[in-house]
Parts: sequence; C-alpha cells; structure tokens
Amino acid sequence: MSTLTITPLGFAAGAEVTGIDLRKPLDAADRLRINEAWLRHLVLVFPRQELTPQEQIVFARNFGALDQHESQAPQTLHADHHEILVLTNKLVGGKQSGTHNSGRNWHTDLSYTTCPAKGALLHCKEKPPVGGDTMFANLYIAYETLSPTMRKLLESLEALHDVSLIRGIEQRDPALVADMKRRNPPVIHPVVRVHPETGRKSLFVGQRIRGFLGVSDEESQSLLAMLNAHATSPEFVYRHRWSVGDLLMWDNRCSCHVALGDFDQTKPRVMYRCSLQGQEVTGRFATEAAAADRDQMLQAVAAVS
Ligand code: SIN
Repeated sequence: MSTLTITPLGFAAGAEVTGIDLRKPLDAADRLRINEAWLRHLVLVFPRQELTPQEQIVFARNFGALDQHESQAPQTLHADHHEILVLTNKLVGGKQSGTHNSGRNWHTDLSYTTCPAKGALLHCKEKPPVGGDTMFANLYIAYETLSPTMRKLLESLEALHDVSLIRGIEQRDPALVADMKRRNPPVIHPVVRVHPETGRKSLFVGQRIRGFLGVSDEESQSLLAMLNAHATSPEFVYRHRWSVGDLLMWDNRCSCHVALGDFDQTKPRVMYRCSLQGQEVTGRFATEAAAADRDQMLQAVAAVS
C-alpha cells in the first residue's frame, strides 16, 4: 500500500508530498493522487529527493511531454540532457552563466512563447545559506476576487508578452540575449485563461507584459500595475524556502512565480528545471515578420545540430 502523504503548506498554494521515493517508478494510483494534489494546491514540494538528471526527467514525464527548450539559448541547457535548463549563478566555461539572475520578476514560465509551459519541476542542487526563496501566486484566486465588472472587462482583453522584460536581462551576455530575443518575438495572449483540466478561470498577468491591446500606454500601465499588485497580494502567495534535495512541481496554467535575489551572490544557487510542454497554443506572434525570422533561425539551427 502507498505511504504517500499530502500535507498543505499554505492557504493559497503549496503542499508537501512525503512517503515517496521519486527514483522509483510511479504507479498509476500514486500518479493520480499527485496529479489531483497538484491541481488543488498548484505547488507540490517533494523534500529530500536526490535525483540524477535522468531520474528527474523520468519522473517529470509522468505528467506530460517535456519542453525541448527551443526558446532557450543552448548554452543554458544541461550538456547531456537538453530537457534540463540549468539555473545557476556559478561560472560556466569561465564565464557568467546565462541564467545567473533568472526568474527575478513575477512571471509564468515561457509566457513569451505562443504555448506557455504546462508546469515545471525544479530540483534544488545547491543553495545559499540564507535567502534565494521562490514565491508563487495563485492566479485563480486573483481572478475570482476581482469585481464582476472588472472580470467582464478583462474577458476580452489581450496582453503583449515580451521576453526583453525579463528583469536583469541586460546584465547577461549580449550574444545570449540577442539569441533569446530572436527565438522569442513578442506574443499576444488573452488576459483570462481557462485551465484545461479544472475548467477554472485565472488571471494571466505578470511583469513580462508590455501592455494591453487596444488601450493607450497610460491606461495599460495603470491597469497592469493594479492587476499585478492584486495578483501577487500576500494572501495569494506561497513562499518556498529551499533545502538541497527539494523538488518542486508547479502548475504554470494558473500560477506565476518569482525567484528572489535576496542572497549573497558569491554563494552558489543551482537549480535544474524540466518544463512540461504546454498543451495548447494560446498565443500568437505580434508580427508576422518576427515569426518568419524565428522559424528561419530555428530551421538553420536544426540543420547544423
Ligand atoms: C524559474 O523562474 O523558473 C526559476 C525559479 C527559481 O530559480 O527559484
């Protein structure tokens, strides 16, 4: 009989899953219980798991196909496992890594693509003695607590998501940044999303949005600031304090998150992330020309690799 135990960690999100060794094959009953807990709590924490990259990949595949990371610069991926994005502030090949300051503003993973990730599984390999937490906001509650009039207004609104709004991107290697921008021209997504499994609506906002379509810049900026402040209210947030060996799995279809830079940057912080491929294309490129340029680039890369 399964020893799996699920203990809520927060009101808005977060539950700890114990009594399971993620290196072992997952049976159908446990997979179902984990998936149900994931849909309910949005962020699951599996403490004290020591997984090799391959074991992390195998576990992640229980919940969907893995993103192949076409949106990321190849130098930021694990050398032997391209399914893993390496988030590290350590030097890579003697140079600052392209992910040394990743995730530092509120975002939903890969919202700058037409098919944002379904979810992610992040494994803590090294962490600073203090700080470097990650916060997650429940975007269902964010939507549901808006007034009916505001919800109605947002139903038909679309937002422009832009990779160049990643906080601190200008501090990264310019060649890597140029690569990221070419892979990810601005995309348009609806502001209200419907979760494909729960059928619940959520507010699809964050700090990588440039503005809303069909409204003035001034209106956009005020509305965006209001929605982001609302969505990330402390009541809607779970804050995770990492331990080495934690594996976190979050539902990207109804949450956003931020990796805090509140730690001594001379201390290593290393995380391995698998992203679950998005299930549906919810966005479109803002301009045809940028989309064609991106396709050409990806074809050229495929031809030489
Ligand atoms: C991410 O934004 O996916 C990374 C979160 C983290 O490093 O804590």
